[in-house]
Amino acid sequence: MLDLKTSYMGLSLKNPLVVGSSSLTGHLAGVKKCAASGAGAIVLKSLFEEQIAAEAGQLGEYAEYSGHGEATDYLHRYGMELGPSEYVSLVRQAKQETDVPIIPSLNCLSEEKWLSYAAKLERAGADALELNVAWLPTSAKVTAAELEARYCKTLQLVKQQLSIPVAMKIGPYFTSFANLGDLLGRNRTQPPPFGVGWCGPASGEQKIVWHAADSLVLFNRFYQFDIDIDQLELTAGNPYSTSDELHTPLRWVSLLAGRLDSDLAVTSGVHNGADVIKALLAGATVTQLCSTLFQNGLEQVGRILEELTSWMERHGFKSLEDFRGRLSQEKSASPEQFERLQYIKLFVGVE
Ligand SMILES: Cc1cc2nc3c(=O)[nH]c(=O)nc-3n(C[C@H](O)[C@H](O)[C@H](O)COP(=O)(O)O)c2cc1C
Repeated sequence: MLDLKTSYMGLSLKNPLVVGSSSLTGHLAGVKKCAASGAGAIVLKSLFEEQIAAEAGQLGEYAEYSGHGEATDYLHRYGMELGPSEYVSLVRQAKQETDVPIIPSLNCLSEEKWLSYAAKLERAGADALELNVAWLPTSAKVTAAELEARYCKTLQLVKQQLSIPVAMKIGPYFTSFANLGDLLGRNRTQPPPFGVGWCGPASGEQKIVWHAADSLVLFNRFYQFDIDIDQLELTAGNPYSTSDELHTPLRWVSLLAGRLDSDLAVTSGVHNGADVIKALLAGATVTQLCSTLFQNGLEQVGRILEELTSWMERHGFKSLEDFRGRLSQEKSASPEQFERLQYIKLFVGVE
């Protein structure tokens, strides 16, 4: 009997397939269907601060400021979706009517909203919270270090307040990702030695506790920017990924696995059983599915589970622990292989 059970952020999942945040998980009927598909956990569609502002009647100001494609799109085209109070009810009902861990997702701008909504979602019974942190750094005055400090501060503030686990979902566009991974993914009793200008509310006798994210979700795939050359206007690129987009998360998970206190979730480019197996071999704790569910239906969860189990049988693996992280840099006899960035003519043979 094969064992697909996975501990993710301390939650017990029956398998490592998590339905990622999208409109598939933005309403109760969708969440129930995702649970019935056999997935191990469900991340709800994000609640965006723009929605919170919209409910408070301050929409214009926020939509312009955030530059967040998913949010602006939501506001302008899908005005029927949930506001914050319905979102809190969605969490409550999803918990009552399904038997898988329910992970709401939050995308805010201000500290005040991160904190107040995180607390509401915890009170609504969320098993964990995913922070969908995405800021488009368009200002030439904001340095990379300042921006990274903002990511760290957001995580620290939310972690200090909540007792449920917190996942941090971020994009891939950072200059020194190993350093940021370390800042977000390792617990410390001392402030990080360098790289961030903010290190918690220590005062007097109080000890600084620097919290790791319970999971790093690598990497968000942002709204794709494109241009329509006939209409001479901005348009959206393909909303769905392909398996080709797995390479970047695969690289970083294989480099970070085993070195952090955080679990690692792969998102972007996970479409089939082979993609899930690759992510687990690289060291992922779980994989998140999104585009493939839009393209192939929720039955894809069952197909992927079959592909995973028949591969495990072929290789004689009885549980995920038998092979998770086997192809991470940490477990490799030739770790330098993981650091090759450029093609080397001799090895490629195609030039
Ligand atoms: C229609 C659509 C809506 C999405 N909405 C959200 C969202 O609200 N919050 C979020 O964190 N990610 C959102 N995503 C991103 C997905 O969760 C996922 O990270 C991304 O699509 C990459 O995974 P994939 O290659 O499996 O599609 C959305 C993606 C799609 C296609």
